[in-house]
Amino acid sequence: MNSALKELPRCFGEGELKWTIVPPSEFALISEQLFGLTFGAKRNKELERIDFSVLLSVRGKLSGFVTCYEHQANELYLQYGGALPEFRENPAVLRGYRVLLGFLLEHYSSLLTRIENTNTPMLKLALRCGWLIIGLRLAGNGKVLLELVNSAEQFKTSNKTPAPDSLRISEGGGVKLSRSDAEKDLPKEEI
Ligand SMILES: CC(C)(COP(=O)(O)OP(=O)(O)OC[C@H]1O[C@@H](n2cnc3c(N)ncnc32)[C@H](O)[C@@H]1OP(=O)(O)O)[C@@H](O)C(=O)NCCC(=O)NCCS
Repeated sequence: MNSALKELPRCFGEGELKWTIVPPSEFALISEQLFGLTFGAKRNKELERIDFSVLLSVRGKLSGFVTCYEHQANELYLQYGGALPEFRENPAVLRGYRVLLGFLLEHYSSLLTRIENTNTPMLKLALRCGWLIIGLRLAGNGKVLLELVNSAEQFKTSNKTPAPDSLRISEGGGVKLSRSDAEKDLPKEEI
């Protein structure tokens, strides 16, 4: 890891959700597989120029990741990330994402990210967690990316939807919570 980087604790979390910070050299060992599972397409690890990545585990099972690099000392860019398919449509995703943002905003005054304008699930998740759209970019391949920023203040005021405490592990080991269970626990909120 770049020695000029902020010193961050290696692990943080809440209950059965645990995030682990891993340096680029460790992430390179699993990144292509993780991208393949999460995005359905591998990304050549040689393309990576990250400062660190964070891996989410739910009750010990790897369930998602985010790659990050510092723009400057107090500004972190969240580049790629997602939940592994077996963890989607599950309150663990929103809860884990909130835990991550809360932690990062204790260490950086602003976070930046880009989300494709067609990625409704990610946009909904982001807008629920305080991200503000501040611009858009045309990617070379005709894709439209929305640029978003988050800060401790925005994040705090967004925290109106309490994440449920009850996460269940299915027999296969993955966390499963049906949409109807999730709806019981998570009040619906229009964005
Ligand atoms: C983005 C991601 C983390 C979202 O997690 P998820 O568990 O799939 O999210 P959900 O299915 O709970 O969807 C989030 C919200 O979007 C809604 N949604 C999902 N697909 C939708 C669609 N096609 N149209 C409208 N709303 C949609 C869901 O109903 C949910 O809203 P609700 O909470 O009000 O019910 C996950 O889909 C993922 O990892 N995707 C692949 C990688 C990726 O796109 N990463 C982000 C790159 S910027």
